[in-house]
Amino acid sequence: MKWVYIEDISDYKGQEVEIRGWVYNKRSSGKVRFLLIRDGTGILQGTIFSDEKDSLLFKRFDELTQESSIVVRGRVREDKRSPGGFELSIEDLEIIQIAEDYPITPKSHGVPFLMEHRHLWLRSQKQRAILQIRAELIRAIRDFFDNSGFRLMDTPILTPSACEGTTTLFETEYFDQKAYLSQSGQLYNEATAMAFGKVYCFGPTFRAEKSKTRKHLIEFWMVEPEVAFAALEDITELAEDTIVYIVKRILEKNKKELEVLERDIKPLEKVKKPFPRKKYDEILKMIQEKGSKMEWGDDFGSPDETLISEIFDTPVCITHFPAKIKAFYMEPDPERPDLVLGVDVQASEGYGELIGGGQRIHDLDLLEKRIKKHNLPREAFEWYLDLRKFGSVPHSGFGLGVERMLGWICKIKHIRESIPFPRLLYKIYP
Ligand code: 4AD
Ligand code: MG
Repeated sequence: MKWVYIEDISDYKGQEVEIRGWVYNKRSSGKVRFLLIRDGTGILQGTIFSDEKDSLLFKRFDELTQESSIVVRGRVREDKRSPGGFELSIEDLEIIQIAEDYPITPKSHGVPFLMEHRHLWLRSQKQRAILQIRAELIRAIRDFFDNSGFRLMDTPILTPSACEGTTTLFETEYFDQKAYLSQSGQLYNEATAMAFGKVYCFGPTFRAEKSKTRKHLIEFWMVEPEVAFAALEDITELAEDTIVYIVKRILEKNKKELEVLERDIKPLEKVKKPFPRKKYDEILKMIQEKGSKMEWGDDFGSPDETLISEIFDTPVCITHFPAKIKAFYMEPDPERPDLVLGVDVQASEGYGELIGGGQRIHDLDLLEKRIKKHNLPREAFEWYLDLRKFGSVPHSGFGLGVERMLGWICKIKHIRESIPFPRLLYKIYP
């Protein structure tokens, strides 16, 4: 008999098939037994009809517990009343293993308990919906860049220097040297951009963030495009295009999952180009008028991000930040050298920074000065300085955090649910 997946069940109307999965739930009603089977791609209701209460099928059914692993065989019937529109008339039921005392029951559990059981929590419907959307989101990112002339360049995870400041570095040993887990592939991307024109890297990044928030992970995934000859304006437009493309794709492909999450999709439907574009100074004034205590030279905190999303109901591009709150490589604003040509995209609905990026310094002298000013070890950056010696050009790029984007699209309360096994402050189990 043919082994099929529940997501394809509509192709097998009237046919006999085999489903391999786990017991999601079961109930009895008179002479009928109902079995909800999940196989990772969906949930299907199986029914067992029998006149004899002690038939083999009934006996096996009685043994089943939540999450027991099974193989069922039977005929696919169309049934408008059942959730997916199809049911399976079970003719054969094979038990692979009986799960005893599965810890996550249909009653609700506290988050610490669920986090300790993350390896099992993944099986629940809401977690499944989020991670299903994650898979599509990553596919959308790849399609977007692959189809618009970007070359994928994998950048190293073990690095000899910092990219985003030294306070969040993870240090490790590299034989007789010190090494750090990558905070961003950007610096290497700048080199590959000079070799290929338009590039992107996509991989895990690491930050030893000491603060506990709903928006920060210790290990997160970031896609980072980098474009030679691009200026702030060009990269801002690319940031908008990327977000618009991803949101559109999820709305097309993940209607069912968004429904499971009870996500109101109206705010997502509003994600159209162009986003409002404001300078840091303008945003600061707007949120100060709404009561923010933030002062010039501060970075936006979470309450400020909430205020921003009360003003705009779509993502917003913020540019021209104070140099002192941004990384060493940012190109100064030619009109106001205390500002840099950075761009951040803030999500709507208070979800914070989705994208951070901007134009890079391409002048050798200036870059040398900045490296010194930030107390970075020059030796580790010789190669990076070379890029300013041999055909230096203006160039720009950004980083988009997968989990931030996913958290916003799914409107989940905490970023920990946006990755299968989140790494959080002091938490590395399971
Ligand atoms: O703004 P960030 O720090 O920018 C960079 O790393 C640049 N080097 C990227 C570049 O220009 N190539 O980080 C970029 C994005 C943020 O906007 C956010 O979406 C995400 O990465 N991010 C985090 N996501 C989850 N947890 C954290 N701790 C994050 N830190 C940054
Ligand atoms: Mg940032």
